[in-house]
Amino acid sequence: MKKIKNILDKKNKSKIVCLTAYSKNFAIEIDRYADIILVGDSLGSVLYNYTTTRKVTLTEMINHSKSVRYGVNKSLMVVDMPYGTYDNPTLALKNAKKIIKETKCDAVKLEGGKKIIKQISLLIKNKIPVMGHLGLLPQTNKGRFRSKGKTFKEKKQLIDDAKLLQNSGVFSIVLECVKMSTAKQITQNLDIPTIGIGSSIYCDGQVLVTDDLLGLNETNIKFVKKFLNIKKFINLGLKKFAFEVRSKKYPSKKHSY
Ligand code: KIV
Repeated sequence: MKKIKNILDKKNKSKIVCLTAYSKNFAIEIDRYADIILVGDSLGSVLYNYTTTRKVTLTEMINHSKSVRYGVNKSLMVVDMPYGTYDNPTLALKNAKKIIKETKCDAVKLEGGKKIIKQISLLIKNKIPVMGHLGLLPQTNKGRFRSKGKTFKEKKQLIDDAKLLQNSGVFSIVLECVKMSTAKQITQNLDIPTIGIGSSIYCDGQVLVTDDLLGLNETNIKFVKKFLNIKKFINLGLKKFAFEVRSKKYPSKKHSY
C-alpha cells in the first residue's frame, strides 16, 4: 500500500509526525500536518474519564474511527485495537477485520511483543497492516507508570521484541516511555521506523495526544509539551456568544429567516 510505503521511506530521511484524532473536525485539521493519524484508545481517559484504557470498547473505537475517517485524506489512518479484542489469534483476526471493514482505516495497532506475536503474524498473513507498540503498555501496565528500558533485562527484552515485531512484518513501532539510550539503539537496529512518545529525539517520528499538546486535556505527564492554550480561544468564542444572547445582539436580522 502506497501510504505505508511512504512511511517506510521516511526512515533515516525525514521525521514522521503522528497525532491522535477521535473525531472528524479534528482529523480534518490534523490531516494537514500529520503523516499518521492514530485513533488511540487514549480516548478512554481523554473523552470518557476512564481511569484505564482497559474500559474502552470495540464499539467506541469503531464509532470514533468512523467519524475520523471522514476527515482523513492524505494521512495513514491507524486504529488501536482495544484491550480484550486480541487475546488470541482467531479473536484478533475477527476483530481486526471488523475494524478495517467498518472504519476503512489503513492499519491497526496492538500493544505488546513476544506475547502477542502469533496474533500479529496472523493479521499480517491476512494482509492487515499492523503497527506495533512497545515500552510502557497502558492496556496491561501494572502498578505506577514508569519509563522502560532502564535495566539490562528490560533493555534486552525491548530490543528483542522490536526485532521480533519487525520480522513479523509490522510497518512501524510506537515506543512509549522508553529510556533515551534504549530507544536510540532500537531505532538504529531496525529498518522500520520507530515512533516515540516520551522516548527521546532518537526515534524516527513522534506521536502525542492532540488534546494534550493543544492544552485541551489537563495533564502533567513529563513528555507532554503544551504547544497552545486552545482553551483561551474556545472561551473567547463562548463568552462572546453568551454575551450576545444575553444582550439580545444575537441573532440579528442577518442570522434570522
Ligand atoms: O492511545 C493512544 O493514543 C496511543 C498513543 C498515545 C501512542 O497509543
